[in-house]
Amino acid sequence: MLSLTEVATPAPGASRPAEPTTTKTFDAFGRHIHYLRVSLTDRCNLRCVYCMPEQVVFRPTEELLTDHELFTVLEVMDALGFDKYRLTGGEPTVRPGLVEIVRRIASLPNAREVAMTTNGLKLARLARPLKDAGLNRVNISIDSLDPVKFKRITRWGDVRDVLAGIEAAERVGLTPIKLNAVVIRGFNEDDVVPLARLTLEREWQFRFIEVMPFADVAEFQQASIVPTHEMMARIEAELGLLIEENGGRLDGEAKVYRLPGARGTVGFISPVTAPFCASCNRVRLTADGTLRLCLLKDGELDLRTPLRRGANKDDLLDLIRAAIWRKPWGHDLAHGVIPMNRIMSEIGG
Ligand code: 5AD
Ligand code: SF4
Repeated sequence: MLSLTEVATPAPGASRPAEPTTTKTFDAFGRHIHYLRVSLTDRCNLRCVYCMPEQVVFRPTEELLTDHELFTVLEVMDALGFDKYRLTGGEPTVRPGLVEIVRRIASLPNAREVAMTTNGLKLARLARPLKDAGLNRVNISIDSLDPVKFKRITRWGDVRDVLAGIEAAERVGLTPIKLNAVVIRGFNEDDVVPLARLTLEREWQFRFIEVMPFADVAEFQQASIVPTHEMMARIEAELGLLIEENGGRLDGEAKVYRLPGARGTVGFISPVTAPFCASCNRVRLTADGTLRLCLLKDGELDLRTPLRRGANKDDLLDLIRAAIWRKPWGHDLAHGVIPMNRIMSEIGG
């Protein structure tokens, strides 16, 4: 029978939890799945137009995993050989106890990298304690440098707070810093040029993201998508030719380029026009305790119910590795199949 996890060499002293394991977990397509994106909350201190309605209703707190439940799941993921974690939201910095959560994830035996995707609003204060707790890096979202446009996109945000957050992250060494902009027709498609220009002077990777459709917001998202080739053309017209980095290989989900003479790089994440499913190595844990196997497919494994019914770690491990085995190959946006059960802030991107 095919084994879902493969033990390359039996770990000597495997019963000692502090030892890293050599277990690897694969899906049925042979993809090695070892990266977990952990949504810590569906809440956010912004209301970006492409992400959530202004009057969004969040989940009641009792539906979210407690810290104890979260760590039970994370210890199982660690036993399955997961070694890379990214904290997401909503906005992860609004979760109470974030610094302690980071400390505990960073001390999982197999954890090699702990990163966070944030809107940056609270980073000026949090960067130092997060770094000290073991956070390695941050990705910060900044869709425009223009305060008026930034507010129009985020509804509530002040771009100066994000800039202060970026500076703080850089100062304490949460590097290399990656910045994200979702590009939305009618809101910030002109801003790709000033945003890309930042990479001339700063060693940042600025990544431009095609907006993806989800549930209630899908109609707006599909009407406002700016395809990657248009973003590239706008940047090249003003700033010069984009030169491919990494021999054209993806860096995570981004294809990366450099402007002539630039210190940093420019990346494009094109889930809609150039899906990267073949190299997918990740699954997602939502704040309410489901394992989501593909960002853009509704298939999920409920972990909260078994957790609250007293399942032990072995039970959870069996459930999780069987679910990962069934991870879908990829999304079907090209065939008009849109994920309908959650919006982005409930999955964490
Ligand atoms: N499509 C693409 N990216 C999105 N983000 C939020 N909603 C969407 C969407 N519908 C981005 C955020 C942040 C990251 C978590 O995902 O701006 O950069
Ligand atoms: Fe909040 Fe991020 Fe959604 Fe904006 S995109 S509302 S910052 S979760």
